[in-house]
Amino acid sequence: MKNRLVVVGTQWGDEGKGKITDYYASGADVVVRYQGGNNAGHTIAFDGQKFALQSIPSGIFNPHIKNIMANGMVVNPVSVVSELEALEARGVTDYKLFISDRAAVVMPYHSVLDGAAESLKGGKQIGTTKKGIGPAYADKFDRIGIRMGDLLDPDYFAVRLRDALEIKNRELEMFGCRTFSFDEIYGQYMELAGRIGKYICDTSVLINDEIEKGSKVLFEGAQGVMLCIDHGTYPYVTSSSPTASSVPLNAGIAPRYVDNVLGVCKAYTTRVGEGPFPTELDGEVADYIRERGHEYGTVTGRPRRVGWLDAVVLNHTRRVSGINYLALMLFDVLSGLDTVKICVAYELDGKRIETMPATIPQFQRCKPVYIELPGWKEDISGIKSFDELPQAAKNYVRKIEELTRTEVAVLSVGPDRLQTVTLKDIF
Ligand code: GDP
Ligand code: IMO
Ligand code: MG
Repeated sequence: MKNRLVVVGTQWGDEGKGKITDYYASGADVVVRYQGGNNAGHTIAFDGQKFALQSIPSGIFNPHIKNIMANGMVVNPVSVVSELEALEARGVTDYKLFISDRAAVVMPYHSVLDGAAESLKGGKQIGTTKKGIGPAYADKFDRIGIRMGDLLDPDYFAVRLRDALEIKNRELEMFGCRTFSFDEIYGQYMELAGRIGKYICDTSVLINDEIEKGSKVLFEGAQGVMLCIDHGTYPYVTSSSPTASSVPLNAGIAPRYVDNVLGVCKAYTTRVGEGPFPTELDGEVADYIRERGHEYGTVTGRPRRVGWLDAVVLNHTRRVSGINYLALMLFDVLSGLDTVKICVAYELDGKRIETMPATIPQFQRCKPVYIELPGWKEDISGIKSFDELPQAAKNYVRKIEELTRTEVAVLSVGPDRLQTVTLKDIF
């Protein structure tokens, strides 16, 4: 058992990170979201209720937990306020929230630019969530971004906003989009700062203090490693790095403070948006999995693309994100299939490869090499221990461990917090 656990998506997002973060949260003191923004949709289900969080950390339901939105995030204040209002309307009123003064702010022009850039890409859209995530990160790196701490200094915010609009309005004009006046944004964001300003602070100091006290800290990744800006299927990726390696930078802590890294993995694979997906299925099996797994986007409602589990993907994400345990999710969904397949390698231009090619044309030419295992018919959504699984389901778990050389620490057999089986204590 260790005091710090990083929860990382091992595929293309929506693996069940929200559920697993919530599951471990009862034993945590701090939950940190370290990248991404309101492009994420993390579903949490307990006591017959279901919540979908976008930028708020999944520890928000536990009054004792310090929930931190760290410096690596892009924060949309409009979304934060509406998420908090939605939580409060449902009785979640006793919570602790902290937002980094160094986190980038998503501004109204970012989502307009996101949509405009997508519409110019012809048939090559990324299929973004259109939340302005890419443009917000681009401005951060271009050093014309606005940071959450700036909102606490009205004069400085005015300077930063004027400077940004000077450039952004020209870009918007170039795209033929509406421009923004200083007054409309300034007024709106000062009002938002009045509402959430009390949460803004130096979260790196806070996290370090907690770590030094021996507190238990969960780091909640968004998206998945295959959507990583560096290690994913570029350019069909998001604009941040969900890897555990990004945690020290994105949360302002020492690399040595990262202990266990739990890779959250669906028992199959899904993807929303465009980009290559070697094990993608269509037809009956895809429909069966999509309906049983309710595979429709939390944020956009789009039907998710569905395919078999891909061990090449899992080994890639294990390597680049230092994953040392797996959480196997949505395992119940596979019940009822005659056989299940796992991709163990790709065939690329007649050669067998077990690593991920870097370019899209190569990745698109990869044909999956499968092993096929017997399926199981039993409903497993009520199991309380590994021993209760049918033998074929046990074999599937063991095969994944063997192929990825990674132990499955937790199994999830339904959306509810209680439909979770711990195989090993890691936090
Ligand atoms: P996240 O983005 O990684 O937090 O995942 P999402 O919440 O976007 O998508 C996961 C979906 O699967 C949600 O609708 C969850 O309620 C649901 N879910 C999580 N674990 C399980 C499971 O073990 N079985 C089933 N049937 N659904 C699950
Ligand atoms: P969670 O945290 C699944 C995808 C989008 C698109 C690409 C870029 O719920 O797992 P962006 O708006 O980030 O510029 O879109 O990334 N994407 C996700 N897919 N789950 C997510 O988050 C995602 N966040 C972004 O669909 O393909
Ligand atoms: Mg999601």
